Amino acid sequence: MTMSANLPNERERSSGAATLAQEPPTSTLPHPAPGTWHHSHVLDLDDFSQEEIELVLETTGTMKEVLARQIARVPTLRGTTVVTLFYESSTRTRSSFELAGKVLGADVINIAASASSVQKGESLVDTVLTLQAIGADVLVMRHPRSGAPYLASRHTRASIINAGDGWHAHPTQALLDLFTIQSHIGDVRGRKVVIVGDITHSRVARSNLWSLTTMGAQVVVCGPPTLLPVGLEGPQGSEVESEQALPPLEVETNLDRAIKDADVVMTLRLQLERQQSGLIPSIREYCNLYQVTEERLATAKPGALVLHPGPVNEGVEISLGVAHGAQSVIEEQVANGVAVRMALLYLLSRGRS
Ligand code: CP
Repeated sequence: MTMSANLPNERERSSGAATLAQEPPTSTLPHPAPGTWHHSHVLDLDDFSQEEIELVLETTGTMKEVLARQIARVPTLRGTTVVTLFYESSTRTRSSFELAGKVLGADVINIAASASSVQKGESLVDTVLTLQAIGADVLVMRHPRSGAPYLASRHTRASIINAGDGWHAHPTQALLDLFTIQSHIGDVRGRKVVIVGDITHSRVARSNLWSLTTMGAQVVVCGPPTLLPVGLEGPQGSEVESEQALPPLEVETNLDRAIKDADVVMTLRLQLERQQSGLIPSIREYCNLYQVTEERLATAKPGALVLHPGPVNEGVEISLGVAHGAQSVIEEQVANGVAVRMALLYLLSRGRS
């Protein structure tokens, strides 16, 4: 074939086919990380070793290389069916799983429970069995009840990925948070990570506690005593060995003390209904005491990273300036969500085969 045979003609140029002809080969993954993977499901990170978390992060790096290609498509999961089954609303998690599956060549089906036979009374187990019957290999599931993905995993041959269950866990969020942090500061061992906000009702906080402590970070949780899990409300500034299936961590109800010399500050969304339920006296008082502001951030380490899992209440848990400031990596977190979810889909499919 001569060089000219690869040049696009007029029709190809206008249809975009020319770009395809000029692309570098895209049919393979660039050397995914070797390593041992034992998981049939991803339900939480409390059963992930340091090596397994490192494997996910390394594989995520590979997936970022795929996403950086001009045509980000590989056929790695061709023939695999991924179903997203969401009983709660989502923007980031659901769309990034869909994109992750499609980039890897999987068939992706999206189901919102609000528009499914769940509305006619179908049980969770029946829904899972129905999706298995149509060929689902991976079920990505979000549910308002803690433990629902565990129940599902006992009734199907499909791999279950927990995309958030009640207040319990959101493992893929914690992995993308860790990947984002490490891509800026490297190893988190000994680094101070402050998680501030409504810890009790946060599945994001819970999964982050597992991944960050497993990787050796010094984790401080901070919030009003009414929004800290029972048993963690005090004594202040202490190291707590929780009896509630949480890893050892430090607790501080004063944000000014907590944020001092932090390497990373992770704010959590304040669910505004917490005021109605009497857990905080007023949103204004919460903002005064717990909003991550420019002044407070100035007392953290220079260049400390600011994370937020989203969706963000700007002007409540975080000031507008911090949310959009130079230290914020909130948008990077969202972008990294695609690569992390590609890595998990890949590792689960490798395990299945
Ligand atoms: N962080 C997170 O879970 O966002 P979504 O609810 O938009 O998926």
